[in-house]
Amino acid sequence: MDFSLFYRSTWVCKSLEYSRIEELFSEEKVGERVCIRGWIYRRSVVGRKAFIRVRDSSGVIQVVVDASRLGDPLVDELKDIGLEASVVVCGVVRKSERAPGGFEVEADSFSIIGYSRDFPIKGGEGIDYLLDNRHLWIRSPKYSKIFKIKHTVLKAGREYFINHGYWEVTPPIITASACEGGATLFPIDYFGSKAYLSQSAQLYLEALIYVLEKVFSLTPSFRAEKSRTRRHLAEYWHLEPEAAWYHMDDMMRDAEGLVSYIVERVLEERRSELIDLGRDIEKLKKALNTPYPRVKYDEAIEILQKKGVNVEWGDDLGADEERVLTMEFDTPIHLTHFPRNIKSFYMKLDRSRPEVVLGFDVLAPEGYGEIIGGGEREDDYNTLYQRLVEQGLNPDEYKWYLDLRKYGSVPHSGFGLGIERVVMWITGLDHIRETIPFPRFRERAYP
Ligand code: 4AD
Ligand code: MG
Repeated sequence: MDFSLFYRSTWVCKSLEYSRIEELFSEEKVGERVCIRGWIYRRSVVGRKAFIRVRDSSGVIQVVVDASRLGDPLVDELKDIGLEASVVVCGVVRKSERAPGGFEVEADSFSIIGYSRDFPIKGGEGIDYLLDNRHLWIRSPKYSKIFKIKHTVLKAGREYFINHGYWEVTPPIITASACEGGATLFPIDYFGSKAYLSQSAQLYLEALIYVLEKVFSLTPSFRAEKSRTRRHLAEYWHLEPEAAWYHMDDMMRDAEGLVSYIVERVLEERRSELIDLGRDIEKLKKALNTPYPRVKYDEAIEILQKKGVNVEWGDDLGADEERVLTMEFDTPIHLTHFPRNIKSFYMKLDRSRPEVVLGFDVLAPEGYGEIIGGGEREDDYNTLYQRLVEQGLNPDEYKWYLDLRKYGSVPHSGFGLGIERVVMWITGLDHIRETIPFPRFRERAYP
């Protein structure tokens, strides 16, 4: 294939000053000559004028190309120029009632840099086709808004922990044993022996608290989830703190502090993106008010039973139950004190009531459900050993982890926050795949 058809390599970038498109939507720019670079988002030709909507990472603006100024051959070429062709345009900014956003650029120079013949996404395609073309689909302006919000969520998450005395650390991704149960482990071949992709940094963070006391990490986590749901990914980003000397209540305060801080930063820095995505800001604002309600698992079961949901004490609560429960509240809630049999081996048994563990989840309102899972850790060697056996795990594989209870054990707590779950709730999206550029699920491999 002759790639010169696709790319005008003769164009030389002169050292001009380029504007970001979002800067042009202002009275002060009217009458100013500017240059922009970007990609063609929409185009139409009416008579001897082409109306080209150009997008860059900051926004979309209408560019008017008039044949009486730039010649008929250019306007003819623009008639069937491919969407997503890259262009460099200079011209004067002016107000226009008919242009989206109220401003446009009247071009006096228009260069096509990279052609885009038959851009595969034209609108109206089905979800599987779009996912196969994910590398191109993400150019849709919706995704630039979502990914900017995710950037702010990630930044705020880090900031919160750094501002509260936590050290950022780098746990491994290749691990020797399960943290969250064998069913969702991804095995890998590690130089001829079996290892796994990490489900959670927790066990390693627990070792690191003996060095730094308060630590956090932001890592990919992997779950071989069996079914494709709206809130499960096989690979997601996991923000996890762990702190020595913390009891469950101390960690719940950091969990709600973190969630409300993230919401505050997004409301402040990404308000226009939220509005563009159609998010109800007033509903989101409720999450600023802490403390969040504390609901014991026992109470949750009662609430659900009263609502006619078919659950019994001892059942794990899934997405459906969480949806019903969170509809009862307009802020996130803490759900606590779960039956020991539905939670991981590392959760500390409540000594006054050993059939439950000192675990907590944070559930987001409006039906979104679990965004955080955490709790106090079992810090007694013998109890932890028994819990491993009880859950059918081999204590030999957890020898190093048990060691942490042999040499200067301390009370400690932690949690894990799923970044994509939080972005899904904050943006008000209804599928987790929208919150990650290249989602990984079971049935298929995407680009
Ligand atoms: O509740 P989980 O399984 O808890 C842990 O992994 C703990 N070891 C964390 C800790 O205490 N350090 O997972 C924590 C969070 C969930 O609340 C959810 O937000 C997210 O990780 N999560 C997922 N997000 C997307 N796709 C999946 N398949 C997820 N599984 C869990
Ligand atoms: Mg959980």
